[in-house]
Amino acid sequence: MIQPRFIEIDSPGTQDPRAELAAGLGERPARVAPKYFYDALGSRLFEAITELPEYYPTRIERAIFDREAPAMAAAAGSVHTLVDLGAGSCRKAARLFPVLQPRRYVAVDISVDYLRDVLADLQREFPAVAMTGVGLDFSRRLVLPDDVAPGPRLLFYPGSSIGNFTPDEALRFLRQCRDAAAGGSLLIGVDLVKPKAVLELAYDDPLQVTAAFNLNVLRRLNVLLGCDARLEDFAHVALFDETASRIEMHLQARRALTLRWPGGERALAAGERIHTENSYKYSVEGFDDLLRRAGFTRTSCWTDAQRWFAVFLAAG
Ligand code: AVI
Repeated sequence: MIQPRFIEIDSPGTQDPRAELAAGLGERPARVAPKYFYDALGSRLFEAITELPEYYPTRIERAIFDREAPAMAAAAGSVHTLVDLGAGSCRKAARLFPVLQPRRYVAVDISVDYLRDVLADLQREFPAVAMTGVGLDFSRRLVLPDDVAPGPRLLFYPGSSIGNFTPDEALRFLRQCRDAAAGGSLLIGVDLVKPKAVLELAYDDPLQVTAAFNLNVLRRLNVLLGCDARLEDFAHVALFDETASRIEMHLQARRALTLRWPGGERALAAGERIHTENSYKYSVEGFDDLLRRAGFTRTSCWTDAQRWFAVFLAAG
């Protein structure tokens, strides 16, 4: 039986997070990049978020794929290589295998180690598909060697993670996707603008799972930076900024305090916040425009009846 291949293109272990975390805490307002959410516990908390009734994106996106996969496959044409960006458990892509019938599946994630067991299991399920696991921080630079992922490629980027980039970063990333598709296409999930109350509940659920996900960043500061943050000193805040069209997540100091770590400190007044995440919400027209500015010339879009979430296929 064929075995999956694994390669590490750039390893997260080689980057020292201390300088980045200290610099972010020194900014006004203080900030921590959202990639620090995802240690083992943070990834589990995110999985739990996707099960919450208030967090609609995962559920609606799955329903769109379940209903429209044949139309998407017809629009994408024959798929030689399916490249899954941020593959994680690989389940979202695996659900599409019977319809897309890729000859090769390339799962990309920040660490190749996350992919080893998952791909070994998936290979048993789909023995005819050649599988490769790639460790790559594609948010910094998306380049895939030809021998790893022969073109043309169908890039798969579900989950609305594009919303965690600023619109400028999103444009740069989409341009890289267009180049990396090598004449193929991009299949991407995008969260859409909707009433503020729905959005704020999705990011501040009554069970407080999203609060735990956000507060976990303080544990990471303590581990990675040697900081002395106390979780009970901070409150989770999620607000929809209608002008910027984004949910903002913050950690708000419940009292005046000073965070200290070897070589640095940051004083926070009572009520002052550390900004931990933006999640941009697009209109269908706005995202279509962004794809075209990135160089894609042909786009198709599928949404749910309420137009809460969209899946785009972009080519050309
Ligand atoms: C991963 N990303 C698309 C999620 C989002 O909705 O922006 C992260 C998240 N943050 C809070 N809840 C979920």
